[in-house]
Amino acid sequence: MAHILLVDDDRAICRTLNHHFQQSGHRVTLGYTAEEAVDLAAGPDVDVVVSDVRLPGRDGMWLLSEIKAGRPTLPVIMITAFHDFETTVAAMQGGAVDYVAKPIDLDELNAAIERALSHDSQEEGLVIGPPGGVTTQIVGQSTGMKQVFKSIGLVAQSRITVLVLGESGTGKELVARAVHNASPDRHHPFVAVNCAALVETLLESEMFGHERGAFTGAVTAHKGKVEQVGEGTLFLDEIAELSPRMQSKLLRILEEREYSPVGSTQVKRSKARFITATNVDLRERVASGQFREDLYYRLNVATIMLPPLRTRACDVPLLVDFLLRKINKDLRKTIRRVSSEAMECLLSYDWPGNVRELENVLMKSAVLERGDALTVDSLPLEIRQLPKAPKALFEYECDRPLCSLRELERQHIQRVLTGTNWHKGKTCDILGISRPRLERRIREFGLVPPRDERSIE
Ligand SMILES: Nc1ncnc2c1ncn2[C@@H]1O[C@H](COP(=O)(O)OP(=O)(O)OP(=O)(O)O)[C@@H](O)[C@H]1O
Ligand SMILES: [Mg+2]
Repeated sequence: MAHILLVDDDRAICRTLNHHFQQSGHRVTLGYTAEEAVDLAAGPDVDVVVSDVRLPGRDGMWLLSEIKAGRPTLPVIMITAFHDFETTVAAMQGGAVDYVAKPIDLDELNAAIERALSHDSQEEGLVIGPPGGVTTQIVGQSTGMKQVFKSIGLVAQSRITVLVLGESGTGKELVARAVHNASPDRHHPFVAVNCAALVETLLESEMFGHERGAFTGAVTAHKGKVEQVGEGTLFLDEIAELSPRMQSKLLRILEEREYSPVGSTQVKRSKARFITATNVDLRERVASGQFREDLYYRLNVATIMLPPLRTRACDVPLLVDFLLRKINKDLRKTIRRVSSEAMECLLSYDWPGNVRELENVLMKSAVLERGDALTVDSLPLEIRQLPKAPKALFEYECDRPLCSLRELERQHIQRVLTGTNWHKGKTCDILGISRPRLERRIREFGLVPPRDERSIE
């Protein structure tokens, strides 16, 4: 059973569809205008929206863009007028998961709803963690982030040392936690140490512990993080900043599993798993003699590379949705929508500080907003004044022969597949559809890559 928000100003159609959906066991909420529907769609339990394109006042396309800005993951099915193929194409480009043309074929509508509901939301992110335990949620649906999810799954199975690379604020610590939470050793502690935050002597005692009287102020013995973490994961952030002395100590613990607390000759053993991270080019540091080459290879057994946010704009609306929910909870705000103008600005910005910067911007703006919408007025100046990014990815030729929408969809999918050399990830990114949906369309339309075509001949 699903909760369907049905939006149409034609009361007769609403009555018929309402009856039909209820017969199929669904719960229905009716909206007669787009404005009304925006508020209804913000309700947390709506599973799918079915909306007519033509509505009095603001139309269905406006509703679609509002929903995509505020709750990008909520599937929307548009009902289009027969023959109005331009609007339908615009609806699909605007993020509708499907369309049904009038006069409505109930079987077709049922199938569209079923497809929309089976759309796996896991695809848009990754939730890692033991049932009832700590979970790490990483949001993203770009090809780059999907690769990251795959790598996390792979490296979590063993205790190999992992190097997480990426610009500042891209989520390196989040990934390290995710690896830990996805591993069989998740019941052991995860401890993070920032190697740049402490001077060498303090860092050494922080990591390896010290004996009583080891240095001035060491009145009692102190257990280091290596000991505290036991068989868990020790996450060392900003690893490039380690001093030569600390580099050799780390190498010893990685190679021989041995270390000594500061001021002690006692040799202790560690069973910790190490994950390290940096936003600088370690190879360059090795080349300039600032970082030990042998240590670099020890750390770099497996690498996870986090792409900068500016290269994955399709993740921005998802992150906005996810971060605003978090911010609402933390700040007791009720921001449910992001105006399309504000979303355009967020999509056009370069995000040098990546996800952390996005989170800060959203938090500051949320504080300034009094209503339930995040608008362009509350955004910082540098983001507000950006030139708008071009919207259309492809221009349709005017002399294209008239054809059905389905044919147009087939041609377009074929065109993007050819343009990306049948790279399905990139094709999904450009078309803005999920992988299962692309696979389904490829099957339905009988599309084959060029090599297979040749083998048929
Ligand atoms: N894909 C994502 N999904 C959800 N939240 C994210 C994602 N990426 C980053 N964040 C959030 O952004 C913030 C910054 O992430 P994190 O601290 O892991 O970045 P970092 O790469 O370690 O940054 P730095 O280089 O500054 O240490 C955190 O609040 C994190 O939860
Ligand atoms: Mg960090």
